[in-house]
Amino acid sequence: TSRHFVTLLGSLRRGSLNGIVARTLPQLAPAGIEISMLGSIGDLPLYDPDLQERGFPAPVLAMAERIAAADGLIIVTPEYNYSVPGGLKNALDWLSRISPQPLARKPVAIQTVSPGAIGGARAQYHLRQSLVFMDAIVLNKPEVMIGQAAEKFDTARLELTDQRTQDFLARQIQALADLAHVVGKPSAV
Ligand code: FNR
Repeated sequence: TSRHFVTLLGSLRRGSLNGIVARTLPQLAPAGIEISMLGSIGDLPLYDPDLQERGFPAPVLAMAERIAAADGLIIVTPEYNYSVPGGLKNALDWLSRISPQPLARKPVAIQTVSPGAIGGARAQYHLRQSLVFMDAIVLNKPEVMIGQAAEKFDTARLELTDQRTQDFLARQIQALADLAHVVGKPSAV
């Protein structure tokens, strides 16, 4: 069976290490798995219930529709101040208000990249907490926390150079496909 996953990026930085990973995933995906990027979290206004009452902003609806139609979501994000970057949290806050809620029962994989030693582990567990409330089905293992990023990227060429990291990412994508198989078809939008 072919699978289609979408990627949500938690960094707005042009040279983002997480962005490099997110853009590399389609090439690393095992056969039969297609991966594409969602729109930028920078296109979403700050969440405001009053704004929501006037109608969901178009970029929020577009993001929600693509997630709903996908077999799974891959969130690739930095850790900011030991937690989830505000821009990513803002995107999740918008998505959580849409009905039907696009992350409900959706298989989700998390990847974090940091120049630090533990690769964004703390942000992963804060992100998991929000995803519990949203009723997403978060892949437990393998956990992808890419630390010591300076040794694994060519930042001038915007490339992930470390082969072991590439193999590891491919394994997690396969694990997400296996989880999606167990969970079943994506719900209709
Ligand atoms: C960071 N950084 C960081 N790193 C980390 O491992 N734990 C942390 O808590 C933080 N906190 C933090 C806060 C803010 C506001 C910034 C800007 C940065 C460093 C961060 O991992 C590094 O800048 C990454 O390169 C950011 O990811 P992208 O943008 O390269 O994908």
